[in-house]
Amino acid sequence: MNTPDWSDHNFATAAVRAGHRRSNEGENAEAIFTTSSFVFDNAAQAADRFQNNAPGNVYSRFTNPTVRAFEQRLATLEGGEACIATASGMAAIMASCVALLAPGEHVVASSGLFGSTSQFFRKYLTRIGNPVDFARIDCLEDWAAKVTPQTRMLFVETPSNPLTQLADIRALAELANDNNALLVVDNCFCSPALQRPLDLGAHLVVHSATKFIDGQGRCVGGAVVGDKKRVGEDILGFLRTAGPTMSPFNAWVFLKGLETLQIRMQRHCESAMALALWLQQHNSVSRVYYPGLSSHPQHELCRQQQSGFGGIVSFEIAGGSRDNAWRVIDQTELLSITANLGDAKSTITHPATTTHGRLSDQDRAEAGIGEGLLRVAVGLESVDDIKADLERGLRDLSL
Ligand SMILES: Cc1ncc(COP(=O)(O)O)c(C=O)c1O
Repeated sequence: MNTPDWSDHNFATAAVRAGHRRSNEGENAEAIFTTSSFVFDNAAQAADRFQNNAPGNVYSRFTNPTVRAFEQRLATLEGGEACIATASGMAAIMASCVALLAPGEHVVASSGLFGSTSQFFRKYLTRIGNPVDFARIDCLEDWAAKVTPQTRMLFVETPSNPLTQLADIRALAELANDNNALLVVDNCFCSPALQRPLDLGAHLVVHSATKFIDGQGRCVGGAVVGDKKRVGEDILGFLRTAGPTMSPFNAWVFLKGLETLQIRMQRHCESAMALALWLQQHNSVSRVYYPGLSSHPQHELCRQQQSGFGGIVSFEIAGGSRDNAWRVIDQTELLSITANLGDAKSTITHPATTTHGRLSDQDRAEAGIGEGLLRVAVGLESVDDIKADLERGLRDLSL
């Protein structure tokens, strides 16, 4: 039977089917190939495969059928030529930078980034010889002003974690092209079900598969999607050598996650919108960050660039104190107090002391993360129960 080109099919079909090649056993669900290495017919075949002169599996650090199935499915859903799966979202970001930047080449990144991404850029990428400057995510002039003749990468997370600020991907892609640089988009908050950065001109997409791709908070993993040369050769070469590899079991969980991604994202979006509207009228809340609200400064851009507003809602407790923010967290009974997002279980996080706790006070202030900020990653429970869980703490605040 011929394997169809799943990129010709609708998203929902590719999400269930792409990348799956049945073994001789005829299994309907994807098999998990838990083997470290693969056996060759003879020494010559081993030599050919090791030297890339013949296709086929070699060793699961860089060739594994279950991982490959996940890579092909995600590449199809993102509209990319190639995908490399990695051990975590941070490994995907690290691999993209280390494999593609030469010493001295400069990066401009958005200031509102996930804490570890920001730390990686500030502490480690700079140390290995790639200077990084930060631009205001929503200010194209600031991005342009930060670009130097050495700039080879623009890196953006849109919407950003936790403030849901957006970058105009098309405009940044143009800026990157004008300066012989790559635009890398962290598409973790949207997933390909809501946003396809490559269609808007981005060169690479990175993912924390840990989040919406898994969808049930089980495994840590990541991926880079893009063209055959950069991803299929350069990043694969780095993975083969440096080894930040996804395990076959995790790849299988992510394959299963992709099958339900679109319907889960629809529900995350609906519930997040309902929660944001409710929080917006609450006396104990001074500001809500959610791109679906018409009060969000980039609401219109979001409508053009995304096919849904996403599942993350952040909000400021009136008065802005850490005590009150923590009090709301501590009175929840349903929400999980944890930093993950994209799970069926709703989670609540105090970014200033957790995900963004390792930033200096100044960097945190520049990123707009205050002590009174809370982030809710809206899960798949009843939104009425989520509201009731937050209401217990919110109504008790002495403001
Ligand atoms: C936007 C974003 N990018 C990257 C990461 C890193 O992913 P991982 O935890 O899989 O390394 C995270 C993790 O929370 C994230 O929120």
